[in-house]
Amino acid sequence: MREHLTIADHPLIQHKLTLARDKKTPTAVFRQLLREVSMLLAYEVTREIPLTMKTIDTPLREMKSPVLSGRKLALISILRAGNGLLDGMLELIPSARVGFVGLYRDEETLLPVQYYFKVPDQLDRRLSIVVDPMLATGNSSAAAVDLIKNAGAMDIRFLCLLAAPEGVARMKEAHPDVPIVTGALDEKLNEVGYIEPGLGDAGDRMFGTK
Ligand code: URA
Repeated sequence: MREHLTIADHPLIQHKLTLARDKKTPTAVFRQLLREVSMLLAYEVTREIPLTMKTIDTPLREMKSPVLSGRKLALISILRAGNGLLDGMLELIPSARVGFVGLYRDEETLLPVQYYFKVPDQLDRRLSIVVDPMLATGNSSAAAVDLIKNAGAMDIRFLCLLAAPEGVARMKEAHPDVPIVTGALDEKLNEVGYIEPGLGDAGDRMFGTK
């Protein structure tokens, strides 16, 4: 991918994001919307992955036809909200390997604290797609990418539903080599680190917690 930031402006993504943002949308519908949007975003984030030609026999004749090349790709979910994007992505890319990075945001400093890390092997030979619905301060996203780079990942993309300009700038500074795909670029972060207008706390909205 050449662009550092891609806003996936497909009408279906925009429509479903509007429904997800609406505070009246119930938990079950919110979860279903995330599943659908994540499939559409998966399509966008994998748009340029390499193909190789394979010889197959159709019922009529032999042909060379494209298939994905290289190792299975790795989806890396930033817990817990990243999991809301996993199901839809796995539906589209069922052979993907899955990793988890557990980071919580210290409510006072807004800085990430690690509590879990488990990722697929051979990250150096896979495309890694880090998923987190909200690119807010960018602190946990940048920290998660640091961790998977330390684990060997070299070809990384970051996928989110919504991004704040502050988070995009933070990622660009920390990881200019990591393209970001988002459903929308919102106006700003507020004083407590929430994206505005945003959709609230993505984890709470998808899991029905407060
Ligand atoms: N995390 C969320 O869930 N929502 C925000 O707006 C920012 C961070």
